[in-house]
Amino acid sequence: MDLLKVIKERKSIRAFKPDPIPKEKIEEILRLTIHAPSAINLQPWEFIVVTGEEKERLGRRLIKAYHEKQIACSPGNVKPLPKTFGKRGAKTLELMKPFFEEMGVNINQYTNEGSCNFYGAPVAILICLDDSFPNARLVDVGIALGYLVLIAHEFGLGTCPIGLIIAYEDEIKDLLNIPENKNVVIGVALGYPDSNIPINRFKSQRDNLEKFIRWIE
Ligand SMILES: Cc1cc2nc3c(=O)[nH]c(=O)nc-3n(C[C@H](O)[C@H](O)[C@H](O)COP(=O)(O)O)c2cc1C
Repeated sequence: MDLLKVIKERKSIRAFKPDPIPKEKIEEILRLTIHAPSAINLQPWEFIVVTGEEKERLGRRLIKAYHEKQIACSPGNVKPLPKTFGKRGAKTLELMKPFFEEMGVNINQYTNEGSCNFYGAPVAILICLDDSFPNARLVDVGIALGYLVLIAHEFGLGTCPIGLIIAYEDEIKDLLNIPENKNVVIGVALGYPDSNIPINRFKSQRDNLEKFIRWIE
């Protein structure tokens, strides 16, 4: 498939088939992912791949933590968002609504509990960063995440980046014995999309390009 087609087609998947993914396929995706550029080629990313019963255990623990702490899907702003950004989020949720209505589920419950359980995907990938790095290296992890989701799509797999779980980083580190000096930056659900579930028909929109550019000529 050509890259432009993959870029246009890829979207976040929020319902997966339980079918396992062969380890070799996951390795192949990550082997390609680490072609991503990074500052001074430090390759700061670390991947923790959780599958099988361990992934189910992780999902159960995160849902329990969510019920206890009630920290929901949100961008985690440090200040109130300028209207332009807030409107984009609100519009996306509005456009998602009919799909959740068709499923007969509550949007908040589905997305929060779903995120905690990696939307039923058989594979959860946690991307970690050593805490000796400055925040600037989050850029490198973000690039790797971008590669990962596109490569997975090329392999016929679906993904959803899961930022919500970072609110429950302590629980994740405890359950998976992740050392104190490693920060969990982002999770990724990876699996075969369940095309029978309405929310997987949803494709998010983008604002017009001119909203993002200021030319200085
Ligand atoms: C850093 C990051 C964190 C995200 N966290 C979540 C999440 O916790 N739960 C979720 O359902 N989607 C999450 N998403 C998916 C976004 O909602 C999705 O990328 C956005 O709505 C655009 O849709 P698209 O990926 O289908 O193009 C996250 C995406 C990114 C890049």
